[in-house]
Amino acid sequence: MNKFSRLKMDPIRSVDEITGSRRLRRMRKASWSRRLVQENHLRVEDLIWPIFLVEGENRKDPVEAMPGVYRYSVDLAVREAERAAKLGIPAIATFPNIGIKKRDVTGSAILDPDNLINQASRAIKAAVPEIGIITDVALDPFTSHGHDGILRDGVILNDETVAQVAEAAVLQAAAGADIIAPSDMMDGRIGAIRDSLDANGFQDVAIMSYATKFASVFYGPYREAIGTGTLLTGDKKTYYVDPANSDEAVREAEQDLLEGADMLMVKPGLPYLDIIRRLKDEFAMPTFAYQVSGEYSMIKAAAANGWLDGEKAMLETLLAFKRAGCDGILTYFAPEAAQLLRA
Ligand code: PBG
Repeated sequence: MNKFSRLKMDPIRSVDEITGSRRLRRMRKASWSRRLVQENHLRVEDLIWPIFLVEGENRKDPVEAMPGVYRYSVDLAVREAERAAKLGIPAIATFPNIGIKKRDVTGSAILDPDNLINQASRAIKAAVPEIGIITDVALDPFTSHGHDGILRDGVILNDETVAQVAEAAVLQAAAGADIIAPSDMMDGRIGAIRDSLDANGFQDVAIMSYATKFASVFYGPYREAIGTGTLLTGDKKTYYVDPANSDEAVREAEQDLLEGADMLMVKPGLPYLDIIRRLKDEFAMPTFAYQVSGEYSMIKAAAANGWLDGEKAMLETLLAFKRAGCDGILTYFAPEAAQLLRA
């Protein structure tokens, strides 16, 4: 009989008497033994790199609120994709910052087969076929008000938005996207996108659902990056999940899986590790976190002030996602982390 079963059978004996010889520090005493018992590992293969696009040529514009992050014109985005592929990063995710004149109330430019996001997919697919391309299918970069849906009389219209997004997904697949990632949180979007992809011969294009996207403050710097920060009126609480809710997040994920999602994503990441764990335990599906712009900027800002070791903070947070149950992480740190992991 081992000590654990004795402990259960004999509650009268003191815990101290039974476990006195247990010392959890034994395995921590040296680097070799710590490595031997390490439960989770961060690998380059876990990383997805979100990159920002801008119109024009030979442009690399810094995003002020995200030190080290840039908006790339398509020609330079291709080179960045090449660099990512060489580092072993499996996939990139693209986000466009389109000219203000092309944005309108319904986000109609999302239906332009040659819009910035589709141009980039075509160019990257042709030059770097070995990297996976994930496209965000949402209206916010294309609307004059920065919302993810069609806005009429102060209301975000669910079904009209879904129809438009499902059409845009087909254009994105035709341009070379391997994974469509709807981030708008409209009800029924996954099923509609699956149907329209299948009807147009894109059965092999996968869907990564932003299954539980919370109405978070941590998207702030991203909105500067794609130019929606100053446009956005009100907030996104009528379509993103309340940060207070966890059961609702499970229902969102379940719904998306029933509609045909291949992968789940939780966004933001670090403040929502509990949600990641719940989804992984509940559904055992490929589960991803998006370490969003504000999470990136917090670490960069603290590091720039000398308050934190930025590299170590980056690696610790990325590993935390693995421990919480993630199969991979969308992170602006991807190339930096990949370089360190390969060294
Ligand atoms: C919206 C979208 C957002 C992000 C990506 N797509 C959030 C928003 O603006 O409301 C956030 C990404 C980040 O903060 O890094 N479709």
